[in-house]
Amino acid sequence: MPTFDVYENKNQAVRDAYAMLAANIQINNKQHKQQLIIVTSCNPQEGKTTLAINLSIALANSGFNVLLIDTDMRKPEKAKRLYQNVQMGLSDYINGRIELSEAIIKTNINHFSYLASGRHDPNPIALLSSSRFEGLVEKIRKDQALDYVIFDTPALTSVADGALVASKGDAALIVAKMGYTKTPDLKRVKEQLERMNVTILGVVLNKVKKLDYKVHYRSYDYFFDAEHFYNNEAFGKKEAQNKKETLSKRDGILS
Ligand SMILES: Nc1ncnc2c1ncn2[C@@H]1O[C@H](COP(=O)(O)OP(=O)(O)OP(=O)(O)O)[C@@H](O)[C@H]1O
Ligand SMILES: [Mg+2]
Repeated sequence: MPTFDVYENKNQAVRDAYAMLAANIQINNKQHKQQLIIVTSCNPQEGKTTLAINLSIALANSGFNVLLIDTDMRKPEKAKRLYQNVQMGLSDYINGRIELSEAIIKTNINHFSYLASGRHDPNPIALLSSSRFEGLVEKIRKDQALDYVIFDTPALTSVADGALVASKGDAALIVAKMGYTKTPDLKRVKEQLERMNVTILGVVLNKVKKLDYKVHYRSYDYFFDAEHFYNNEAFGKKEAQNKKETLSKRDGILS
């Protein structure tokens, strides 16, 4: 059976941030029931796929069985973040070319399986509004072994695909890009999700500039507040230097 390699973010601070998000989702899921979570945003390129992948990894690392479904059938395969000669997937299942058991593949990360979007199809709207897609969601809901199903979607306001998928979810995470996503658009997406009876878990603010992070979130800071550590007499000089180097390696956390 083929497996799929997913690469974990090497930056510990970034991993911690996703682990925190996964923990919050878990805390909110009081009845510990299976959840179908939609990762959505107002516009393209705000970070949905990045979040969907990393959230799946964080939940899987906490021991939950996670299935990530890529429902974005418009993006060329080579432009995919998770592309690995895995051509068959959702579109092929809906078109009856493969069985679900063949379409869902294991990844190199325990508890994390993946359903790729599949081969390019000229009409994703027809596929996502088909009874076969509806049936797939029902099958997944009946699968007691799955704790979380994460749907990566195209932006909600760009094409109808995103809305078709969102309507099938239990809950949604909205990704917003700092300094880019407009409040009225966010409001519209919120209202759209509410009309579909999808619970909004929250908004993930992505691509926060380090300076903004410092200005707005300093009191919550544990990534950037290490300076006073260096100035602490009790903190050995060598150790302080090591910490400083570690911190500079973490600079990739926020763009
Ligand atoms: N926190 C971040 N810091 C820096 N770059 C990021 C961050 N999140 C995402 N990116 C980059 O932004 C680009 C868009 O991200 P991604 O593909 O996750 O967005 P998307 O919302 O899924 O886009 P699309 O709507 O096209 O599917 C990618 O190049 C990704 O590497
Ligand atoms: Mg995407």
